[in-house]
Amino acid sequence: MFFLTTAIDYTNGSPHIGHAYEKVLADVIARYRRLAGEDVYFLSGVDQHGQKVQQTAEKEGIHPATYVKKTTKKFSKLWEKLGVNYDGWAETMDERHKACVQSILTDLHDRGQIYKKGYKGFYSIRQEQFLTDRDRDEAGNFGPEWGEVTEIEEENYYFKLSEHTDWLKDFLENSPDTILPAFRKSELLNALDRNTGTDLCISRPKERLRWGIEIPFDTDFVTYVWFDALINYISFIGYKADPSLPVFDEIWTDRPVHIIGKDIMVPAHGIYWLAMLHAIGFEDGKIPQLLVHGWWNIRGEKMSKSLGNIVDPMELADAFGVDALRYYLVRDIHTGKDSDFDLDRLVMLFNTELANELGNLCNRALNMSQRFTEGIITPGGPLTADDKELQKSLTESTAAYRKAMQNHEISKGLEALNNHVVHCNQYAERMKPWELNKNLENKERLATVLQHLAESVAHCAVLLSPILPEASGKLAAQLNLPGLMDLKLDDLKWGLIPSGHQINKPKPVFPRIEIKPKED
Ligand code: ME8
Ligand code: MG
Repeated sequence: MFFLTTAIDYTNGSPHIGHAYEKVLADVIARYRRLAGEDVYFLSGVDQHGQKVQQTAEKEGIHPATYVKKTTKKFSKLWEKLGVNYDGWAETMDERHKACVQSILTDLHDRGQIYKKGYKGFYSIRQEQFLTDRDRDEAGNFGPEWGEVTEIEEENYYFKLSEHTDWLKDFLENSPDTILPAFRKSELLNALDRNTGTDLCISRPKERLRWGIEIPFDTDFVTYVWFDALINYISFIGYKADPSLPVFDEIWTDRPVHIIGKDIMVPAHGIYWLAMLHAIGFEDGKIPQLLVHGWWNIRGEKMSKSLGNIVDPMELADAFGVDALRYYLVRDIHTGKDSDFDLDRLVMLFNTELANELGNLCNRALNMSQRFTEGIITPGGPLTADDKELQKSLTESTAAYRKAMQNHEISKGLEALNNHVVHCNQYAERMKPWELNKNLENKERLATVLQHLAESVAHCAVLLSPILPEASGKLAAQLNLPGLMDLKLDDLKWGLIPSGHQINKPKPVFPRIEIKPKED
């Protein structure tokens, strides 16, 4: 089973395009893997506990649970709108998750992996973590990224992280594919060197934080939000669980892929989570891969509430359509790298690559078939060098697409697909079916040319389906080939459209986005 997860989003606010990117990326990968013939389980969800939620709820004068239910809806509604089709949905205030977290805590405590100690130090509320001297800047201060920092002295429970860091270092050094893309691995190894010898504080006293999962062996404390949140990856697929959940062993069959942003690799996923899994008893062969994506910025700057530059994906989807947004989010960024979110580029990429190129190919293939051959696709006559070139272009583009998509490089995959579309449009320009139609003698040649274009549309509809499932479905319907959407990649051979096949009336699937000039 290919088991894929995203980070679970904090529910102390509204979803932004960073969240939307990660979910769409995961959805595209999940759909692609299904198309490649794999069994897929895609888990997503929301992170509902912690101090930030408690603080915002207090400001609004409502219970954290009420607040979180309200914000959770904003996320789940957006995923429904964007066609993000997960199989499992994690909400950390779920009783089944709490039970799992508590049984893991009890087990680790019983095995001496968790102990209590007193500590005096500086604490960042924004990051919900204790700081050390390593977190100070050159001037010796805690920088603004930590928000409000206070000195506190308290007793807490600690997880013996330090007992697992040697294993982790060894494991990472000998594993070329745990951290994807590979260039992030050294960042993690460096962080691990700095972290050696420190344990992880996994509790918060209730006087300070009530909105969390109670520590089962000491009711004066709740669980640190990251320790709780990370466990979602196993609790919602039935680890130590409730019979209402899926069967764990059927989903976590080998190494899952966790899709996360670059800010939560160190220390949360790359150190805490991998060490936690090791402590819980996961074998090396089951340790997850981390697919670490980059960030969307706005004009080179981080998105932030204080800069007021947060883009609302729901508004974008309403204004430009779900297809344009999904396409842009995976087309204009290279997986692992950062990118700048730019509305002009969103419109430009939709208009050039979808409306002009692919849209044009579809219109030509389907409209001209309707007009010139009564909507019947029947190849005739011998193949010319141009026809063979077109078929070769399709084979090569499909291979390049598959290679890129398998490596989670969606933008490259789309580039490969677009290459074939451009090839087809140039072929149409050269073959001029509209000219061939003027002379009855060219009937067979005309049919062959139109068949090459229509057949290409059929392949493109399948290859585009992980990225734009709805649009692909529309193309399949216009081709009158509903079964197209059930094909797997290995079924993609020349001849998807049977000879003599009748297509349906075409209708543009990618209408150009027209931007009204601003009125002064
Ligand atoms: O970190 N561009 O939640 P979160 C791309 N609850 N991705 C971005 C982004 C941006 N501008 N901003 C955020 C949390 N992200 C925790 C996760 S997992 C057990 C707990 C990504 O709502 C970010 O990197 O702050 C993360 O992967 C995801 O959005 C959720 O961020
Ligand atoms: Mg964050």
